[in-house]
Amino acid sequence: MDWPKGVDGLCYGGDYNPEQWPENVWDDDVALMREAGVNLVSVGVFSWARLEPKEGEYDFDWLDRVLGKLHDGGIGVNLATPTASPPPWFTLAHPDALNVRPDGTLQVHGSRDTYDVHAPAYREASRRIAAELAGRYADHPALAMWHVHNEYGSTSHSPHAERAFRVWLRQKYSTLEALNDAWWGSFWSQRYSEWDQILAPRATQYLTNPAHELDFKRFTCEAMLDHYREQRDILREAAPDVPITTNHVFGQWVPVDQWRWSEEVDLVAFDSYPGAPDERAEQQSALHADLARSWAGGRPWLLMEQAAGSIHSADGSIAKSPGRMARHSMIHISRGSKGAMFFQWRAGRGGAEQWHSSLVPHSGKDTRMFREVVEFGNALPGIADAADAPVEADVAILWSPESWWATGGHASLPAKIDYLENVAQIHRILRDRGVTVDFAAPEGDLGKYSVVIAPTTYVLSKAAAENLRWFTAGGGRLVASYLTGAVDENCQVWTGGYLGGLTDLFGIRVLEHLPQPAGEQRALWNFGGAERFCELVELRGAQCVTQYATGDVIENQPAVTVNPFGEGEAWYVSCKLADDAWDRLFEALELNGPGLAGVDVVDRGRWRFIINHTDAEAQIGRIIVPAGAWAVDKRPD
Ligand code: GAL
Repeated sequence: MDWPKGVDGLCYGGDYNPEQWPENVWDDDVALMREAGVNLVSVGVFSWARLEPKEGEYDFDWLDRVLGKLHDGGIGVNLATPTASPPPWFTLAHPDALNVRPDGTLQVHGSRDTYDVHAPAYREASRRIAAELAGRYADHPALAMWHVHNEYGSTSHSPHAERAFRVWLRQKYSTLEALNDAWWGSFWSQRYSEWDQILAPRATQYLTNPAHELDFKRFTCEAMLDHYREQRDILREAAPDVPITTNHVFGQWVPVDQWRWSEEVDLVAFDSYPGAPDERAEQQSALHADLARSWAGGRPWLLMEQAAGSIHSADGSIAKSPGRMARHSMIHISRGSKGAMFFQWRAGRGGAEQWHSSLVPHSGKDTRMFREVVEFGNALPGIADAADAPVEADVAILWSPESWWATGGHASLPAKIDYLENVAQIHRILRDRGVTVDFAAPEGDLGKYSVVIAPTTYVLSKAAAENLRWFTAGGGRLVASYLTGAVDENCQVWTGGYLGGLTDLFGIRVLEHLPQPAGEQRALWNFGGAERFCELVELRGAQCVTQYATGDVIENQPAVTVNPFGEGEAWYVSCKLADDAWDRLFEALELNGPGLAGVDVVDRGRWRFIINHTDAEAQIGRIIVPAGAWAVDKRPD
């Protein structure tokens, strides 16, 4: 049980908010959905105020009618619990259930995500509305999947959070002595003598304690997971054969360890909103898709949201050119998504997202957008068989949520570290080389890969370090880049050469961190260049692959090294390599696949997916794909 129940083939549709529209629009919606090949819609994501207009008073009549119409139209429903947006009556009745910022500001209603996941009143109200929905719709024939909440991620620093944090810390550390040691509490007089002295990491005069911050993120992740589980268990009991999911949003501020959460959902759902207008949008989409597939670990995953018509970037919104919506969808489907879903079905007339693009734009069905939506939706049944074949990868990149959390925005670092960019860089270069990659958890199963790359995996636990040793000893090729294993799970430095204590595995010691001035490249002998960050490395058995050609302390010192270990070998890259240098390294490792720059090629069993993002025709093998188009080819048995 892991596929939207009763939905055949690939899922196609999006968030549907009929409560924003008069009923005469609903029939039109269902007719248009049928025309577009829509077979699944997410309903009720933000409908709490309509479902429970007053505490304990419910109005399900409208939802009954909506679900009835969708069912008559053959469209499955991904029914949401509305807990991401409590109604105004709730926040007024329970001001203690409001989200508190680190500076103590209370966030009031008037937007969304205004809740404190630790507040008992909010937890109770969430369980109550989930139970009402479960009781009423568990047996509804339109029900294909439950969609719990929306994009978990709101952190609260409230008194409720603090109390729960202390309980969590007691469970984790048992004694204050252990906590004080783990947090290096002797620095700046931070040793605690009572549990009640410990606060959520609030706004402070100067730098906060990195171990305290990291534990608070872990704790928030677990608390949100508990909130999810409470609803999930209610829904599961009422409808044991209906899959349950929640959609992940992607951001450094989101304290969600996707590896942990993926064990708790029946299908991994991911919202992909690339944040750059140019070819980086395609790179980011591919990165998102490979991450989501890897989190799912072989179970299904679904692109739950994307924007149909535009890309929102720091420079403003950019309209997607014709065909780009379909190509972005195909990036996800080719990499394993069980379909392509969007935010949202029909563009709203008002509200904060009134200008967000939609499958049905404000101008209605007679538009380029809707014609593209219909064309793509009607093409999907033709590739449903191909999308069943597994995506297989021989190379994995480590994805460490804790390294992302620990390096994001925190000043206690050897230099500014953009963890995501380092991961994305490796992914981008391998994608350009036509290599399909998985992501793997640092403590996860690496046994099926022949190459594992650890980009700047700053936080490396003892267990993860042993995992890398095991992988390499057994014949794997490990490639780690600068600052990998700089600190352990308590954010304490691995002394004696960093590297998570794996100095014997790499055959080197890292002696010094040497951040470099912005804009200056450090040339490597016959190997391109490095930017911003270099390390002084001492050889302890490893061979030097290339040296720094310039730089006062590092000149002629090892930049890239390789060390045979057991049956495998461990490579170390002691700097932030430029793209061309990584490309050279991957050439040396013979990581090659089919493809051309700007053309995605993903092989799945006998099927090959080709997505041509360039403005020229592309030929991959015998297949010619026109500019801006995609194709799926099936090889004979
Ligand atoms: C998502 C969210 C949707 C909508 C969308 C707009 O993060 O889940 O409700 O706000 O962004 O891009």
